[in-house]
Amino acid sequence: MRNRRAALAAIASAASLALTLTACGQNSEGGSEEKKGGADGATIGVAMPTKSSERWISDGANVVKELKSKGYETKLVYGEDDPDQQVSQIENMITQGVDALIVAAIDNKSLDNVLQQAKDADIPVISYDRLILGTENVDYYASFDNEKVGELQGTYIVDKLGLEDGKKGPFSIELFAGSNDDNNTKYFFQGAMNVLKPYVDKGELVVRSKQTALNQVTTLRWDGGTAQRRMDDLLTSSYRSTRVDAVLSPYDGISIGILSALKSDGYGSKAKPMPVVTGQDAEVASVKSIITGEQTQTVYKDLRQLAKVASNMVDAVLKDKKPEVNDTKSYDNGAKVVPAFLLQPVSVDKDNYKETLVDGGYYTADDLK
Ligand code: GAL
Repeated sequence: MRNRRAALAAIASAASLALTLTACGQNSEGGSEEKKGGADGATIGVAMPTKSSERWISDGANVVKELKSKGYETKLVYGEDDPDQQVSQIENMITQGVDALIVAAIDNKSLDNVLQQAKDADIPVISYDRLILGTENVDYYASFDNEKVGELQGTYIVDKLGLEDGKKGPFSIELFAGSNDDNNTKYFFQGAMNVLKPYVDKGELVVRSKQTALNQVTTLRWDGGTAQRRMDDLLTSSYRSTRVDAVLSPYDGISIGILSALKSDGYGSKAKPMPVVTGQDAEVASVKSIITGEQTQTVYKDLRQLAKVASNMVDAVLKDKKPEVNDTKSYDNGAKVVPAFLLQPVSVDKDNYKETLVDGGYYTADDLK
């Protein structure tokens, strides 16, 4: 019954479409114009970087849910952290005739050609969470205030060590940054160093490895195993006779790797307590680690809101309206300043995780058991 009704509705709508098109002097091959007037029948391609991190799985699911609630069809793909694979996935979606693209880039500089193809096919592109660089063919950017993320991590370390309260240390710290092919990496690092550098300059924070430049501390593809190996090396080379008091980590997956190295070196006991270890994304494993006293902090970014922002942008563009933006200055991608909507990140630790994550409905108490 339901099928028959749907079939009849489809026939009726096809007939009315034909009438409209005839009235406009077009044939039905000009259908893409029709689709752009509303959600009906339009399909949005969503390219996410990897399923190896919980956050991107949530991002994919949240974006699809938001788009579906607006009546769109979706195609969701994951590129397994392989830039070439992501390019061919986007190419395929263009060939399949998607009406708009939402892309969280794996390598922000590898998408020029494929986004030119999108432009040629009149497909608008929203850069999701990570800014795509070096091309005019990105219409809007949906993200968080990325520099603020780093500031929250740096401030947390300073507060936790008591530097603001007059303790002078000196405290030992090591620095980790994200993937060098992700535009966010430099914003996170810059934000953190804005806060930490004055204490490094005063000698109250000491980076014993002397690795303080961004290009010395990045972690390709945000890989936890890579971070673990680097932390192992740092502990061996620079911490035989002193302890490390804090580790700046830009992301929970990296924090987990760092914590493994620390545990193998005997940290986490009364005699050798864990250093302050930051993070980002409030992934379940890290929130649990915070609850049990291993990781110290994370930065929570409400991905439900990010999915809303990106979906609203697509919806507005396809309806020839201007999407809501709140930053038209900060994100120059080398070819243009991309208008952005930036959400606010929140620092989370043992003291506020319940109020922020559980009361806020992001996780249930059971998720964190
Ligand atoms: C960044 C993102 C972070 C984190 C990281 C690793 O681009 O902004 O929140 O998820 O990638 O996936």
